[in-house]
Amino acid sequence: GSVRRYNFNVVMKQENRLCSSKPIVTVNSQFPGPTLHAREGDTVLVRVVNKVKYNVSIHWHGIRQLRTGWADGPAYITQCPIQPGNNYVYNFTITGQRGTLFWHAHVLWLRATVHGAIVILPKLGVPYPFPKPDVEQVVVLGEWWKSDTEKVINDALKSGLAPNVSDAHTINGHPGAVTGCQSQGGFQLSVENGKSYMLRIINAALNEELFFKIAGHKLTVVEVDATYVKPFTTNTIVIAPGQTTNAIITASKSSGKFMMAASPFMDSPIAVDNKTATATLHYTGTLSTTSTTLTIPPPQNSTATANNFIDSLRSLNSKKFPANVPLKIDHSLYFTVGLGINACPTCKAGNGSRVVASINNVTFVMPTTALLQAHYFNKKGVFTTDFPGNPPVSFNYTGAPPANLATSSGTKVYRLKYNSTVQLVLQDTSIISPENHPVHLHGFNFFAVGKGLGNYNPKVDPKNFNLVDPVERNTIGVPSGGWVAIRFRADNPGVWFMHCHLEVHTTWGLKMAFLVDNGSGPNESILPPPKDLPKC
Ligand code: C2O
Repeated sequence: GSVRRYNFNVVMKQENRLCSSKPIVTVNSQFPGPTLHAREGDTVLVRVVNKVKYNVSIHWHGIRQLRTGWADGPAYITQCPIQPGNNYVYNFTITGQRGTLFWHAHVLWLRATVHGAIVILPKLGVPYPFPKPDVEQVVVLGEWWKSDTEKVINDALKSGLAPNVSDAHTINGHPGAVTGCQSQGGFQLSVENGKSYMLRIINAALNEELFFKIAGHKLTVVEVDATYVKPFTTNTIVIAPGQTTNAIITASKSSGKFMMAASPFMDSPIAVDNKTATATLHYTGTLSTTSTTLTIPPPQNSTATANNFIDSLRSLNSKKFPANVPLKIDHSLYFTVGLGINACPTCKAGNGSRVVASINNVTFVMPTTALLQAHYFNKKGVFTTDFPGNPPVSFNYTGAPPANLATSSGTKVYRLKYNSTVQLVLQDTSIISPENHPVHLHGFNFFAVGKGLGNYNPKVDPKNFNLVDPVERNTIGVPSGGWVAIRFRADNPGVWFMHCHLEVHTTWGLKMAFLVDNGSGPNESILPPPKDLPKC
């Protein structure tokens, strides 16, 4: 492969949305940020220069980072953040991956505006396993708050309550026309009759899963999370924060304008948010007076639409791209994910308590030095390795909540032996309310072998697992009031974060890390840290 060099200057930029203006943190003054282009096998060097007042780190979401955990990016997990005025070069090689991923800030709530696409083409001369589209287009979905996002979350943490929901969703940085502020148009994609377009769709929103659809056009899904799937055609795509989807449309009309819509999917009964971001598919030569053909997004609680999409996803599982699902399992883990309530004497609005989140009842406490550094340099007292592999107290997770909603806390990791195989069942607890949690695992792809509603039953449910062609991805929605089962091989030494990709849940503590111990073979241990690795 070749070497690709990028300069990411993290700078403030004044941006105007929804008829009001605010300074935001950006990379190179762009929102969304620059697209990183590479081919499978390339080495990527990104020099990040921090010119803002916040600590910064960047995560290359979905890049496996084989033996290069130092370049993964989550602050205080694999690196100390880059302090104001400092810089750091992320150095990694893209191994065995091609497709769409994205990069984003991985500290505070900076990823609200610090994010951009990663487009990985196959190796030179290697075709896609589907007809080559005529045109490719990145479509980044996001969220916009009129106020400063750091203030939004800091106010919430002080109060103990949930943060304000965003004021708009965005498509390639713009809310579009249907927002009550008509002065700004939305993103326009101009198309020509007869041509095919591959949309590289990324959900970079902080806190919301989204539906995406286009009036009058069907989408053929060919890839998710940079893994090929068996192509299928759909009207509506469902995409959680942290997920990516490549879908091909054929421009089959002679002219016209057609609405693209991104709207929230929330099957929690207490969630209310019906803001739709819009953009326009515009056939070249269409008269400016032509009105746009509208599309109606699914209702926000349309679980049926979501399941229909999710259940259609299958690994391509071809000769060239086999689905190597682990069949023999070394670690069988059962993690509950959900919200809880802990005491907070200073939380006035929360009446002396605050909302927290946990995995197996552990609310993860961020360390003040990076876990990977502590592990590599054998620094004691930073974390413990007693993260529970099963819930400490089991109960009916989807029935009446337990009397005590409080969680324990700690900086705990779960240790996996290099190259061992893992089955992990993620169970939504529905303690405060059932909620869909898009859980993201760093450092690995996993296979989504099973899912169901209610409590996971280890005696019955594994009989229905798909061990042949389950979808392979890096972020999976744990269904509201249900569970998913995933499998992966721990073939990447290092410390790997796993967390809910709804940023508010991560902040509240729905996160943990796997520590994969060094293997003994020549290529089985993590590489030494780079000289410029930031210090805490
Ligand atoms: Cu895209 Cu740890 O995140």
